[in-house]
Amino acid sequence: DDAKAGVKGLVDSGIVEIPRIFIRPPHELAEELNMCKSTLQVPVVDLSGIHVEDGSKKIVDEIREASEKWGLFQLINHGIPSSVLEGMIDGTRKFHEQDVEVKKEYYSSDPTARKVRYDSNLHVNKTKGKIANWKDTLYIFELVSGHLEPEEIPEVCRKTSLEYINHVLKLEDILLGLLSEALGLKPNHLKATECDKTQSMVCHYYPACPQPELTLGTSKHTDPSFLTIILQDQSGGLQVMCDNQWADVTPIEHGLVVNIGDLLQILSNDKFVSATHRVVAKNVGPRISVACFSNGLLAPSKMYGPIKELISKESPPLYKDFQVVDYVTKFFSKPLDKTGLDLFRL
Ligand code: SIN
Ligand code: FE2
Repeated sequence: DDAKAGVKGLVDSGIVEIPRIFIRPPHELAEELNMCKSTLQVPVVDLSGIHVEDGSKKIVDEIREASEKWGLFQLINHGIPSSVLEGMIDGTRKFHEQDVEVKKEYYSSDPTARKVRYDSNLHVNKTKGKIANWKDTLYIFELVSGHLEPEEIPEVCRKTSLEYINHVLKLEDILLGLLSEALGLKPNHLKATECDKTQSMVCHYYPACPQPELTLGTSKHTDPSFLTIILQDQSGGLQVMCDNQWADVTPIEHGLVVNIGDLLQILSNDKFVSATHRVVAKNVGPRISVACFSNGLLAPSKMYGPIKELISKESPPLYKDFQVVDYVTKFFSKPLDKTGLDLFRL
């Protein structure tokens, strides 16, 4: 039952030392102390000029540069009303801060068990080399497949989540157009591959941590998606790797973070990079964030691989073609130190 109260439950119980399952291995902690913090600024793309001809060319150039170098950029003036963003953060907070008795109705540690699922990291088995992250998460899957009934979303965050997701889907269309152009393709190219449509939304709650230097909120990873859109509150803690150094993705009020995932790196034949990122733990909190993933699961048996138009004698394909359904199966049985990029690399 402790697991059902989550990391938040641990903090509420007044612990001053974090359980062993959360402690990063000594070599990782030492490496961290020796690593320089990046002084580079994560790129910020302003979408307000999108309807002006010169404006959209500038935006496409900025997105190309950011996607090649960082695989991640912040987005401002993206058109999603601030009340919708605030509602989404607030709904997530309300879900995680409601009575444990209500929250635990949604609890499951089995990723395949249900479409709407709340999970903490307390059941992580360290003997398998996995280390728990200092956060609790509400997962909402099958958002646009038609399989999810709105009533399945917890009532405290139902209206705000549905509203937010509708806006994210529209923004995704715009972004796929710009990313297609940034790759030198026709604006509708990526959309026509059916890689669009956010299918999964994960709503994180990172409680204050009594020993933040020993653990992480989210460990270092790349996303297995095509594209991820992250909404974060003003707490900070998200970092992206560039030139082997961590750079802070400093929160911008009412901004969003766009993150290229492994699948888009593969489609781009490594022209774009999928961002390596993580979230550090802090002794203040909570931090709230919401990530929406477009993961191709609406077209699971479609073939994907490097886009033919991007392949030439000078730039041969770096990956085999595959179906998303195989990608997902392989992804969940791969060793921890491999990414989605390793699964079909030639
Ligand atoms: C993630 O990458 O899964 C989490 C991102 C965040 O919390 O900002
Ligand atoms: Fe991520």
